[in-house]
Amino acid sequence: MRSTVVLLTVSSLAASALAATYPLKDSFVGKGFLSGFSHEAIADPTHGRVQYVDQATATAQNLTFASDTSFVMRADDTTVLAASDAGRKSVRIKSNAAYTTHVSVFDIRHMPQGCATWPAAWEVDEANWPAAGEIDILEGTNDIEPNQMTLHTSPNCVQPASGRTMTGSVVSTNCDTNVNGNQGCAVKAPTANSYGKSFNAAGGGYYAMERTNSFIKIWFWSRNDASVPADVKAAGSSVNTDSWGEPAALFVPDTCDIPSHFGAHNIIINLTLCGDWAGQAQFFNTLGGCPGDCVTYVNQNPSAFSDAYWDIAGIHVYA
Ligand SMILES: *[C@@H]1O[C@H](CO)[C@@H](O)[C@H](O)[C@H]1NC(C)=O
Ligand SMILES: *[C@@H]1O[C@H](CO)[C@@H](O)[C@H](O)[C@H]1NC(C)=O
Repeated sequence: MRSTVVLLTVSSLAASALAATYPLKDSFVGKGFLSGFSHEAIADPTHGRVQYVDQATATAQNLTFASDTSFVMRADDTTVLAASDAGRKSVRIKSNAAYTTHVSVFDIRHMPQGCATWPAAWEVDEANWPAAGEIDILEGTNDIEPNQMTLHTSPNCVQPASGRTMTGSVVSTNCDTNVNGNQGCAVKAPTANSYGKSFNAAGGGYYAMERTNSFIKIWFWSRNDASVPADVKAAGSSVNTDSWGEPAALFVPDTCDIPSHFGAHNIIINLTLCGDWAGQAQFFNTLGGCPGDCVTYVNQNPSAFSDAYWDIAGIHVYA
């Protein structure tokens, strides 16, 4: 037993020494999001009570705001809606570039918070879903902490229920969108400050995702964690994922061939309200402690959305 462990350690060190340093490929900061990402004025595929607006509308109404150092996108927090109106205005952006194997580092100061909110930072090929897979890096609903990290795939991609070297805990194991109501294979982050109010109270933090042909890893560091790696904090010209320690989530290839389940992905940041997940009473009322019916709540309480915004310091992609 002991010698097996030693051998595995030696071989994984040897393999990672070859590939764990990545040069900077793309950096999105402030106004860079306006050219590097596109606003998607689409109908919400998850049936949320939102109306995604285009970039001209979003900037004119200050739902999207870019300075030199900050990119903010929010849901409207001033309009009372009638039941017959389209949903509350919100923003969804998608990177123009797509990436296969890469590392993406998200430096986020504030994420949307409040009843009904369902924010997500994730990667997908929308045109080829689920064949080209989906990686949900930061996602949750109704301020329910902690963060949940999930893969959604075509059939024959399953993750082990135990034995993965990660700090998070297994929620579900079958990544196939056809089973378990598309729950995917999910891992819960170990700390409450990975999501929602606790995330924001700490000044946000850093998410990083590394995708290779043999694993997908996701790390989280709260803003003031002593363990934030220097290359993550500085958003430098390269990163070395070997020095980042144990990830919050590790997805392994043993029963999921990664190259055949994941294609070239765009990065998407979205904020929907209610919808297939956040709107369910189980999550809105019971776990979220939110009052009444989700859609009615969204229609009638604009000021409840004053904290429903992303403030992103930067997204840096290494490949
Ligand atoms: C637009 O939003 C930004 C970010 O929230 C804020 O700092 C700024 O004051 C807003 N501008 C206007 C005109 O309301
Ligand atoms: C937002 O992100 C999640 C990622 O898990 C995705 O499943 C969902 O379709 C997206 N929803 C909206 C409303 O864009």
